[in-house]
Amino acid sequence: CGIVGYVGSQSALDVVLAGLKRLEYRGYDSAGVAVAADGGLAAAKKAGKLVNLEKELVDRPLPTGTSGIGHTRWATHGGPTDANAHPHLDNAGRVAVVHNGIIENFAALRAELADRGHRLVSETDTEVVAHLLAEEYSACADLAESMRLVCRRLDGAFTLVAVHADEPDVVVGARRNSPLVVGVGEGESFLASDVSAFIAHTRSAIELGQDQVVELRRDGVTVTDFDGNAADVRTFHIDWDASAAEKGGYDYFMLKEIAEQPKAVADTLLGRIGASGALTLDELRIPDAVLREVDKVVIVACGTAFHAGLIAKYAIEHWTRIPCEVELASEFRYRDPILAPRTLVVAISQSGETMDTLMALRHAREQGSTVLAICNTNGSTIPRESDAVLYTHAGPEVAVASTKAFLTQLVACYLVALYLGQVRGTKWGDEVDAVIRELSEISGAVERVLDTMEPVRELARSLADKNTVLFLGRHVGYPVALEGALKLKELAYMHAEGFAAGELKHGPIALIEADVPVVVVVPSPRGRSVLHDKIVSNIQEIRARGARTIVIAEEGDEAVVPYADHLIRIPATPTLLQPLVATVPLQVFACELATARGNEVDQPRNLAKSVTVE
Ligand code: G6P
Repeated sequence: CGIVGYVGSQSALDVVLAGLKRLEYRGYDSAGVAVAADGGLAAAKKAGKLVNLEKELVDRPLPTGTSGIGHTRWATHGGPTDANAHPHLDNAGRVAVVHNGIIENFAALRAELADRGHRLVSETDTEVVAHLLAEEYSACADLAESMRLVCRRLDGAFTLVAVHADEPDVVVGARRNSPLVVGVGEGESFLASDVSAFIAHTRSAIELGQDQVVELRRDGVTVTDFDGNAADVRTFHIDWDASAAEKGGYDYFMLKEIAEQPKAVADTLLGRIGASGALTLDELRIPDAVLREVDKVVIVACGTAFHAGLIAKYAIEHWTRIPCEVELASEFRYRDPILAPRTLVVAISQSGETMDTLMALRHAREQGSTVLAICNTNGSTIPRESDAVLYTHAGPEVAVASTKAFLTQLVACYLVALYLGQVRGTKWGDEVDAVIRELSEISGAVERVLDTMEPVRELARSLADKNTVLFLGRHVGYPVALEGALKLKELAYMHAEGFAAGELKHGPIALIEADVPVVVVVPSPRGRSVLHDKIVSNIQEIRARGARTIVIAEEGDEAVVPYADHLIRIPATPTLLQPLVATVPLQVFACELATARGNEVDQPRNLAKSVTVE
């Protein structure tokens, strides 16, 4: 998850380790380094935090060299072990590579390499790159050229950095998707996933473009595309202070994580929906025969993950016709729930360590049910104790209030629902085919929402002195309302409540008085238009009682215009997917309100990112 490369005259190991420390905020579960020295390569890698690696380097020091690479890994393929940590080397130990991202065709490449006699020792997708680079290098004796040739054979998202024993004055990087930034110093050059890694050495930087390869030398850098054509490079000056640099220039991790959502969503979908719309969930190690027999799905989770579960229920029942219950993990086992071998229990957790959720899944397994975890943290306890896991690829989430993890949990839930339908041969028509198509492109819609958030921020600032904000929604908009209210409680410390809009008349309407802000999530006027019309009536009812209406509605929905004091537009999506776009303005709203009220955004009072007690 953090990458550093260095060529210069200082000790590469010192520069690389210091750089990795500056990247620690990104979160990781193992770390490693390699330096070119004494005509060979020397490498060290360790599971756990950097201190473990540093201790290893004291026990077994590496020779000193002036070029090297380093990596902090957030496990995706393969758990966080020493063997899976980066760098990965070829069998001769002449080339070392570190990698961020996912190489989708690694299984095919691995099989090819094994046929040609290579021995692969880790479970990672990265290791194939070291072997491929070694093969290409033996033919062309040029590391940059070898990298270009290898990149042309890789599918998926990757950022790679490599060093070769035969070219000790060169470090080569390649970028597709995840960022890679070059630092240009005096007689030294740097590469890193973000500028904070080298800001202590130089403030002159080049951001690599998509599908570019950079060759780093002491006296400068050469950038080409994957075909070897020279690329235009633009050097920029970094004027951030070091702490802003850690947050990628954002004031708070939460803002950074909100902005990362399109990528998090795209990464979670990556390689899981084929061109024909068929789903492949390779890692999901539950036999299709078991999934065909499932007669009930029970979702357990806490906090924001619970809201993802509530939305999943609508999707699972509508698409698969399997009954689905959703329960707060902390309530679940004390209720003596009815569980059987044909019950599929889905435990959703960003951290994979939430004790309530863990106890719920243990209870379910004791009763003989199959447990599937949806989790963002590879190798954590919840996936380890489950029968199977579907990982979300949000990357590490640092801010306590969950944002990008939530969106990816939704994506994972949709994938599970659709996959259940697929293996069970559920007859679904054009509607679901269209949903699959739209889901595969939904990250663009999330991006569009993010581009139009300034009025939401302005509105939030204007409400900083309010005491209460209410949220209303129907159908999947109801859990979105609950999530919007939770975000506001967590961050702004305001009284905030979410209601099912249909319940309004059964109680909550008594809370409506002059100027109370009420956020209403409006379903699409297409599709289930009955719902849409009902909620438009609800908006009229509350407005007639003086509420200040903040309406989140699809582009082109004109029916809401007369009743909206503030209108927030979101792109049109299929009804069940709407939470992926409708939640985003609510995150921005809560974050801005918290800032306006002078609250600590990333670490709200009394809350913890991962709650490991019941
Ligand atoms: C804590 C966090 C919440 C989170 C919940 C579940 O309460 O403050 O933001 O939603 O735990 O966490 P999990 O890691 O299991 O998703």
